[in-house]
Amino acid sequence: MAELNLILLGPPGSGKGTQGERLQEDLDCPYYATGDILRAAVKEGTEVGRAAKEYMDRGDLVPDEVLIGIISDRLGSGEADHGFILDGFPRTVVQAEALDAELGELGRQLTAVVLIDVDDDEIVNRLSGRRVCQDKGHVYHVEYNPPAEEGICDVDGSELYTRDDDRPEVVRHRLEQYHDKTAPLVDYYKKQGLLNRVEGADDPDRVGEKIRTLVSTLSLEEG
Ligand code: AP5
Ligand code: MG
Repeated sequence: MAELNLILLGPPGSGKGTQGERLQEDLDCPYYATGDILRAAVKEGTEVGRAAKEYMDRGDLVPDEVLIGIISDRLGSGEADHGFILDGFPRTVVQAEALDAELGELGRQLTAVVLIDVDDDEIVNRLSGRRVCQDKGHVYHVEYNPPAEEGICDVDGSELYTRDDDRPEVVRHRLEQYHDKTAPLVDYYKKQGLLNRVEGADDPDRVGEKIRTLVSTLSLEEG
């Protein structure tokens, strides 16, 4: 099968992480969620983590050059040579242009961008009930996707916590940032003929099925 180079695009809380975990199992290729990468860096206290923390706590975007460096390292490492899934990157037109340039230098191109579309009201509701695992960032919801045992990750048994940036006032700011800086990517990728919109307001299994169907079609087209 030809490589699939995919982007999951969508507002905070649209289900990028939830669907990214599933897609990674289906496709067995590297999955780069920049929010998870940054949170791991904050936890480890690295230079990147120390620089990123204040932006993340406020719900602001971390500067483009930091994120471009993170993704460029991974794409250049060889581990993503047979395809990848990006979640949370690119998030600005500058990042999207840098990704196009990086892939161009490697003689590669994006296969598709999957936009998971969800209304702002639904997002505030989802993020207030989200719980995330300490160890690997597996995602749950107290009502819509609860773990088998309250407060414990089904996959690795680590404790679940509430992200600092899921406080309602920070969620509102993240949404503003999305509409202002990230939503222009919808047009950017539409013009390149890469955009595939998926209605994200269904339950997680139904959204997953729609994405799986879409990806199967892309795999056939890529041959
Ligand atoms: P990041 O971690 O990427 O946050 P985000 O984009 O705001 O997205 P989320 O992780 O909040 O939501 P999601 O779409 O993954 O939804 P999830 O599956 O968890 O980024 C965090 C911060 O890092 C940014 O604010 C920024 O500071 C920085 N950053 C990261 N990348 C950057 C970049 N490229 N440039 C600059 N800065 C960057 O689902 C949410 C909840 O809903 C869960 O509880 C889940 O169980 C539930 N749920 C999921 N699907 C459904 C469904 N269909 N129905 C009901 N509930 C559902
Ligand atoms: Mg996420």
